Amino acid sequence: MAFLFNSDAERAKVFANAFAHALPHQRFLTPAEAFDPADVRYLLTWTVPDDIERYANLEVLFSIGAGVDQIEPASLPPNIKLVRMVEDGIVRMMQEYVTLAVLALHRDLPGYLSQQAGGVWGVRPVRQAPDCQVSVLGLGVLATAVLDRLEPFGFIRQGWSRSARDIAGVNCFNGPEQLTQLLAQTDILVCLLPLTSETRGILNVELFSRLPRGAGLVHVGRGPQLDHDALIGALDSGQLAGAVIDVTDPEPLPADHELWRHPKVIVTPHIASVTQPQTAARAVIDNIGRHEAGLAPLGLVDRDRGY
Ligand code: GLV
Repeated sequence: MAFLFNSDAERAKVFANAFAHALPHQRFLTPAEAFDPADVRYLLTWTVPDDIERYANLEVLFSIGAGVDQIEPASLPPNIKLVRMVEDGIVRMMQEYVTLAVLALHRDLPGYLSQQAGGVWGVRPVRQAPDCQVSVLGLGVLATAVLDRLEPFGFIRQGWSRSARDIAGVNCFNGPEQLTQLLAQTDILVCLLPLTSETRGILNVELFSRLPRGAGLVHVGRGPQLDHDALIGALDSGQLAGAVIDVTDPEPLPADHELWRHPKVIVTPHIASVTQPQTAARAVIDNIGRHEAGLAPLGLVDRDRGY
């Protein structure tokens, strides 16, 4: 029974090497080779193959990325375990990006970039970190790691999730009512939610209106969670002071889109965090070990919840 690596050739080489060392008896395939889908026990891929019904002995489908919203749950037979990518490289890159973005908004980098464009030497007000409330929507592996990385700066750290969480040093909120409460006491909002029917469009006019005037937004969740017009309206009215946006809808963001040129926005092309092959191979190999020992793989998706 084989492991099929259905992603780019460069990462395949790294995975093949890691498998040869750690799981020498595991047959390792790429789509470049002829194979019988019925021989595939483990599949690593971004999307579900069109002929998935031919993978009659598939046990685990590993997503190459942290998100699994690209996989339509109904397209995958219910007996197949769906596992999202949880690996040290993705976690570290997300910590770096969100730290960069939170500090950029905290120190008003968009404002200084605008001043620089006009040759303006001017001091802008800064709220001190111990008075700055940074709130992360979503309290999964990435969000928890991000909040941990922000600790030394002295921000007031907060987070919100669907169900109750308890994280040392973090004010945790949960459920719809507490979201309103959290927003009212947030200076920088970070969206790290998975895309589900409940989070689609969540960053909208109403949510922005619940934030204190002059708040900032960091969006590293998924593009369809953000209403672009609502964001531009909130920035233009001063309700929001700035935004760092890594995900958009559509992607790529069209070259003539207003967000590219908005003076209060920094846009990056969905690069906040990218699966790193060495650490990802380690994580997948460990998860195969867990699966074969009868344990749940780390990152196992609850199909009903959608993440
Ligand atoms: C990137 O967005 C991922 O899902 O890994």
